[in-house]
Amino acid sequence: MIHIKNNVFTLHTQRTTYQMKADAHGVLLHTYYGARTGNDDLSHLIQLVDRGFSPNPSEVGHYRNYSLDTLPQEYSTCGVGDYRMPAIVAQNTDGSHLVDLRFQGFAVHSGKYALEGLPAFYGTADDADTLTVTLQDPTTHLTVELYYGVFAEIRLLRASSVCLDFPQDNLDFMTFDGRHTMERELNRTPLRPGVQQIGSVRGTSSHQHNPFVMLCEHNADETHGLCFGAALVYSGGFEAAVESNPFHDARFTVGISAHHFCWTLEPGAAFTTPEAALICSPDGFTAMSHRWHRAIRTHLCRDPYKGRRRPLLVNNWEATLFHFDAEKLVEIARAAAPLGIDMLVMDDGWFGTRSSDLGGLGDWTVNEEKLPGGLAALVPRIQALGMDFGIWVEPEMVSEDSNLYRAHPDWAFHAPNRSPSRGRSQLVLDFTRQDVRDFIYDTFCKILRSADIRYLKWDFNRSLSDVWSAAIPPERQGEVYHRYILGLYEVLERFRQDFPDLLIEGCSGGGGRFDAGMLYYTPQIWCSDNTDAIDRLRIHYGTSFCYPVSSMGSHVSAVPNEQTGRTTPLETRGVVAMSGAFGYELDLSQATEEERATMARQNAEYQKYYDLIHTGDYYRLTNPFENERYTAWAHVSPDKREALISVVTGTAHSALPSLTLRLRGLDESLRYQVNGGSSFWGSTLMHAGYPIPAMQGDYRSIQLHVVAE
Ligand code: DGJ
Repeated sequence: MIHIKNNVFTLHTQRTTYQMKADAHGVLLHTYYGARTGNDDLSHLIQLVDRGFSPNPSEVGHYRNYSLDTLPQEYSTCGVGDYRMPAIVAQNTDGSHLVDLRFQGFAVHSGKYALEGLPAFYGTADDADTLTVTLQDPTTHLTVELYYGVFAEIRLLRASSVCLDFPQDNLDFMTFDGRHTMERELNRTPLRPGVQQIGSVRGTSSHQHNPFVMLCEHNADETHGLCFGAALVYSGGFEAAVESNPFHDARFTVGISAHHFCWTLEPGAAFTTPEAALICSPDGFTAMSHRWHRAIRTHLCRDPYKGRRRPLLVNNWEATLFHFDAEKLVEIARAAAPLGIDMLVMDDGWFGTRSSDLGGLGDWTVNEEKLPGGLAALVPRIQALGMDFGIWVEPEMVSEDSNLYRAHPDWAFHAPNRSPSRGRSQLVLDFTRQDVRDFIYDTFCKILRSADIRYLKWDFNRSLSDVWSAAIPPERQGEVYHRYILGLYEVLERFRQDFPDLLIEGCSGGGGRFDAGMLYYTPQIWCSDNTDAIDRLRIHYGTSFCYPVSSMGSHVSAVPNEQTGRTTPLETRGVVAMSGAFGYELDLSQATEEERATMARQNAEYQKYYDLIHTGDYYRLTNPFENERYTAWAHVSPDKREALISVVTGTAHSALPSLTLRLRGLDESLRYQVNGGSSFWGSTLMHAGYPIPAMQGDYRSIQLHVVAE
């Protein structure tokens, strides 16, 4: 029944096979459980792929396809790069919560094991065999040891921000889940007995789950039904759980992740949980979203950008990646200025030895080979073209190949005697430390004062692992994740106070830290690294349930799209991107005259509709997950006298039925002119609808400007 060859352990029953394999690194992989197979090594079924934000163990060097986060584990570990549920969690004597289990050996016995003091199925040598596999942590040399102590203080192991009991469990749990480049897809599931939970153990709110969740009645939709939304105003690990009990009550909690959370409360001390904001709508999702949008725009985003017009910008990332110099940037700016673009944003690669993502983070001095004379020389050249200047930074990270790391290796998270996992080949700076925060603040202050910089793109390109701070005693390491976020907020607040006019756009490989906490400091956030207009329809749809369009950084990029390879018309890319904090992300100096004319036109339209888009009420007219034929949405002015309706089609098919779109949000008793042509009653446009002309080709778009007479 047990077959072992080359560290592949295959366990057969009459009908099933269960298999695991200790790989070359000693990681015990789970390779199969299912209908009976032969004794083949089934590890060929596991495909090694580079997944964004899945770190790589130290010993694999810069090879990015091997990650504990993506490999199937037989017994999952914690803190060393696997962000899924750990099978084991231990607090080590150095205070770290890291467990790294590697294969040590195995033994086979006839018969079935028994568990002392516990019930277990039993067997005899005739009908059972036992395989024992031993795993060991190479650093602690122990499999698992648990210590219990009594302390004079209290240690908080969980502190939720909200706990809501509902007298009913006939509800749906709605969550916004995804992955790097495909964030915030709506998932809706009815409550079932027990606990349903989402969250993040990555130290950030994450691409994988958003800290905004909803509960609603089964029949709730955009226009009807009771629904509740909760947004945690926090950017670190979180959990949102709902439990349905045997008596059909539901309890709903949201708060900081309990994963490795242990906060020592000295006598008399207080601990403040992050805020959880709640909104209930008896009238469906649209009304709820409108309240979220207004609340975030007016009670979370702060002055001066609360009401200030956001710049229409061009960012050079997708145009050049790391390979640019001052002349290239000026060339892009020269092409941008006549199109009505307000700002050039210089992305990653302007500092130190940074010519790829393998090094340079930490050495924040201008690379004068690329930018002779530094920012003081470059920025006036951009300004002379009538444009403002912005800059990309990633202050929370350090590369091992940097002077900063060589001088202060202890400033990066790592546990004693362990080599930390890299993510995008970089390590995370320990923002729990005042000296680290001061250094970062002073460094970027100098940069901001060295030239007229109006905008920062504040990026964060990996998930936390190896979380252990040299500045915190072992017994308080459970505070590190939260203290990290408190440190981040402190630094962001200092920038806000000292540079009140600076616009900071949040970013974490796109939308990996898209949350209400960040929006308090950064009024807009790069919505996703995926700039494909068609994928963006889904990303914007999910994001819009809580977050206003003014918070969603959204750019027109080149085709075929860098992430999907899809080609969409420029008009459609503009229609999708202008429903957000609009910009471009391509080499404008390569654009044809025809493309430039289209861009100039769409920029003028964006400026014309700016208030409508940014402060109007947003209506999801279709669900792009259900309706692949077309996606439609609308921005309607609060007084209902004006609306901009956008429609984007999917792939083309012959002889499709004609399309009539029912508008929403208008005043039934007002008469509206559509695109400067015919007029209709609001009731006609909303109940009978408006015909959308047939458009040939894939991914076409149309906008209707509807104005009350
Ligand atoms: C990730 C961001 O999301 C991108 O837009 C770009 O800024 C890169 N980082 C640069 O490294």
